[in-house]
Amino acid sequence: MAPKDYKSLLDPARIPAHVAIIMDGNGRWATRRGLSRMEGHRRGAEVVESLMDAAMDLGIRVVSLYAFSTENWSRPRAEVQGLWKLLGYFFESRIETLKKRGIQVRHTGSLAQLPASTQEVIARSIRETRRNRKIILNFCLNYGGRQELVDAVNSWAGRRGAKETMTVAKMGRFLYSPDLPDVDLLIRTSGEYRISNFLLWQIAYAELVFTKVLWPDFRPRHLYRTIYEYQTRERRFGGL
Ligand code: FPP
Repeated sequence: MAPKDYKSLLDPARIPAHVAIIMDGNGRWATRRGLSRMEGHRRGAEVVESLMDAAMDLGIRVVSLYAFSTENWSRPRAEVQGLWKLLGYFFESRIETLKKRGIQVRHTGSLAQLPASTQEVIARSIRETRRNRKIILNFCLNYGGRQELVDAVNSWAGRRGAKETMTVAKMGRFLYSPDLPDVDLLIRTSGEYRISNFLLWQIAYAELVFTKVLWPDFRPRHLYRTIYEYQTRERRFGGL
């Protein structure tokens, strides 16, 4: 039986503005095929391109990708180094395409601990795509939700001398990417049902969709299906 065409069922008036994705399952995808975990990450990186086309086509404004968490440093050194190399290569090799396609690259997280060459290529990608307006591709790299909140409070206290009290409205202005809208839809692949410290503040009222599909197998049709599921939910934001 042909897979259901969820794209044609989507309501164009209710496309989520901000979709955040926990791209999980690269390691398992590779291990099941007798491949190295790095091969899984490489295939995972390839998925991003076709997905951005699909997201742009639907009119999504921001896609946030959890590509490296503050906890991922605890992985074996070779995997950590391999991931930075892969990310560096991704930006280096795609920068022209990203520029041409109207994709604005952003970074959310702390860049300081990253290898100098990775920092440089990310900074260049951000600089060279800053005028693009079709869609924002927000890479969450060396990102941790708790660290973001701690950094926001410290950044606020540093400026104000801590003489005022913090408020929910003020807090948002001190986050890493204060201009991005809250997440509407959070997708996690690979059948894990966790948030894993991702965009803790921004997902306060996000709809959560978990899928068993491993990230390297995730295709535009899976995105359409998750958005369809999102559109079946009633969002009340705590009201009635
Ligand atoms: C989780 O899979 C994935 C990561 C920790 C890294 C995500 C990175 C990529 C998708 C590749 C780089 C991306 C770009 C856009 C260049 P896992 O390793 O935890 O998988 P497992 O749970 O099956 O072991």
